Amino acid sequence: MFTISLIGEASAGKTTLAMALAVAAERAGLPTMLVDLDPGGSIMAWTGMRKAEAVNAVPRHAPMCCSAPTHQLRPVLEAARTPSVGARMAVIDTASGADADTLDAATQAAHVVLVPCRPADLTAIGPCIDLARRADTPTFVVLNDVPIQHRAGFTTVPQARTALAAFGIDFSPIVMYHRPNHVQARASGLTAQERFPMRPAAREIGALFAWVEGVQLIKTDRAQDDDAQSSTRGEARRKG
Ligand SMILES: Nc1ncnc2c1ncn2[C@@H]1O[C@H](COP(=O)(O)OP(=O)(O)O)[C@@H](O)[C@H]1O
Ligand SMILES: [Mg+2]
Repeated sequence: MFTISLIGEASAGKTTLAMALAVAAERAGLPTMLVDLDPGGSIMAWTGMRKAEAVNAVPRHAPMCCSAPTHQLRPVLEAARTPSVGARMAVIDTASGADADTLDAATQAAHVVLVPCRPADLTAIGPCIDLARRADTPTFVVLNDVPIQHRAGFTTVPQARTALAAFGIDFSPIVMYHRPNHVQARASGLTAQERFPMRPAAREIGALFAWVEGVQLIKTDRAQDDDAQSSTRGEARRKG
């Protein structure tokens, strides 16, 4: 079960991207469990709205959602991957300022950690990156809520990328720009892909999901290559 965790600073876009990626995964045919580790429960509130809102004209994809305290994360994920639940993907959202135990659990459980960040806030992400590195999980900053028009004094995408590269921090090639459609969609219990499918916010989410899925495919290929190499080595040893 491919698992993505979102960690980072307050209002960086963790919950927005968690909801959007979970819905994108469902649209791609992957039954998905969205796990809310945030005691604030913003995902659960959104899920409730999703059920209550009469936005019947909009085709909805329904990721499974649950809220859990950190110590329940492992059993929740184990239950999600059982055949009776059948999740093939999990997306874990964390609270802003989550404690070290939560960040550890979320990064260790994940195949890929995403750290959404506004370009102007890059200096704040150090602790998240350190944690993810300790967990040895591939970690990428996702530049989010990037101003569409450059404003004097603001960090540009190339500047942000140069700073990240200088610190040896990987980043997603997909940039999420400031798109009010995310806010509008969320207010009606939806995501931009559902509410505004033809708009740039939806395209950016689609591209982010395709990229993050690609990261996992590459990882799987590498693991298979490694397996093949080690079995060849084993064969050679046995033959030798
Ligand atoms: N790319 C974006 N463009 C416009 N608004 C965004 C974008 N990403 C997030 N937001 C808005 O910013 C606010 C904070 O985002 P949220 O996902 O709740 O952050 P976090 O979960 O990291 O605290 C929300 O109102 C959300 O709709
Ligand atoms: Mg949040």
